[in-house]
Amino acid sequence: MTFSKQFVLGTATASYQVEGAVAEGGRTPSIWDTMCRTPGKVLGGDTGDVACDQYHLFRDDVALMADLEVDAYRFSISWSRVIPDAVGPINPEGVAYYRALCEELHSRGIKAVATLYHWDLPQVLEDRGGWTNRETAFAFADYARAMATELGDVVDMWSTLNEPWCSSYLGYASGVHAPGRTDDLAALQAVHHLNLAHGLGQRALREVLGKDVPVCLTLNLHVVDPASDAPEDVAAARRIRVVGNEAFLGPVMDGVLPDELREITRDITDWSFVQDGDLELCHQVPDVLGINYYSTSRARQADAGELASSGGHGETGASPWVGCDDVTFLPVEGPTTQMGWNIEPDGLYRLLMEVEQRYPGLEMMITENGAGFDDEVVGGRVHDIRRVDYLRGHLGAVERAVADGANVTGYFLWSLLDNFEWSWGYSKTFGMVHVDYETQQRTPKDSAYWYRDLSRTRDLETVGDAWVAVP
Ligand code: FCB
Repeated sequence: MTFSKQFVLGTATASYQVEGAVAEGGRTPSIWDTMCRTPGKVLGGDTGDVACDQYHLFRDDVALMADLEVDAYRFSISWSRVIPDAVGPINPEGVAYYRALCEELHSRGIKAVATLYHWDLPQVLEDRGGWTNRETAFAFADYARAMATELGDVVDMWSTLNEPWCSSYLGYASGVHAPGRTDDLAALQAVHHLNLAHGLGQRALREVLGKDVPVCLTLNLHVVDPASDAPEDVAAARRIRVVGNEAFLGPVMDGVLPDELREITRDITDWSFVQDGDLELCHQVPDVLGINYYSTSRARQADAGELASSGGHGETGASPWVGCDDVTFLPVEGPTTQMGWNIEPDGLYRLLMEVEQRYPGLEMMITENGAGFDDEVVGGRVHDIRRVDYLRGHLGAVERAVADGANVTGYFLWSLLDNFEWSWGYSKTFGMVHVDYETQQRTPKDSAYWYRDLSRTRDLETVGDAWVAVP
């Protein structure tokens, strides 16, 4: 057995990427509804209006997950569906949807993992400054409290935020994500208010739920290596790590705003928007650190005029790497996924070991890992051998880290379904299940059968290739 029966082998999605039904059941627009209606922001003018229609098809999707024998489903709650005014009364119809989803999961023996914020901020809050406004953090805490009160009995693990790096830097600095702004100061304010939201949100969850229900925070920690041993390249990689990782780990895990971060961003802000007592509020170590991992990068000191790009559709010319104008990345080498991301399972191993060394014993889960590839349905099958290889490699890295002492207790494959991939619209396909958007027909890919067999055998060695023949 390489993975114990207790090790969670789950799968993940997010509300705006799969639900559809954006104007049903009392839901109001989020910043992604607005983004999709802004010309040039989303490839092909795609929107999440219908997406995978999971709002209507969730029972089928849960049945599918049961067939695939997954242990847990990580989904996210649409804030504007459950609290249409964002700070006002709850919408019983919106809450009923998530209750029904959780109950359906439980009836099939699947655990419910709910993320409160996977990027779809209610538009009414953005109209008041969004994450640049500290009030948004307090509104988030009230929302967290309301959800814990309404759904505490049916959610097995809560997650406050998904990848605040994306919400802040891609949303407010490079502008490839909603709300599409390009203002470095705004991005740093967003970083702080997201950290505050996590801290206040975790406290609120605990107040209602006590200590027994685990709370998670998901970060996309960047594995950035220097392009060479030259001191300037080493320093360049360090700056990226500080802005990308320490900006969140510092306040949340250690209760400090790192001096290095202040130094790198000194031309942009003196951080005077961090008020007395804020860092104590941010300092809420989660029960489980969620790690989303896809690839690695190599940084070097930039030549004049070079800029680290955003890596999204609808590039604005602005970089997400606030304060790092003198850093750029090496071109990717070797095989890549559909996103142009390199494939380096060892990066995941190194990351897990690094976190373990820094925070010994901290429980970790891989809350996202997976790959987009161009898939083809042929005769009702999708032979996505590259995805199987990717998953095998990365689960192998997890297994190795566990053997070497990292306290990793779960893995969530991104994603259950092909879905709305943000600025890339429907052009990128990460699902272990193919979706035909005309008919909403779901077709499990070979990777789904492979993952099911892994869930059965728990053994990467023996899972073999028997799944290829299995319909
Ligand atoms: C992560 C997001 C997720 C999905 C994957 C591919 O950054 O959390 O919603 O877009 O990337």
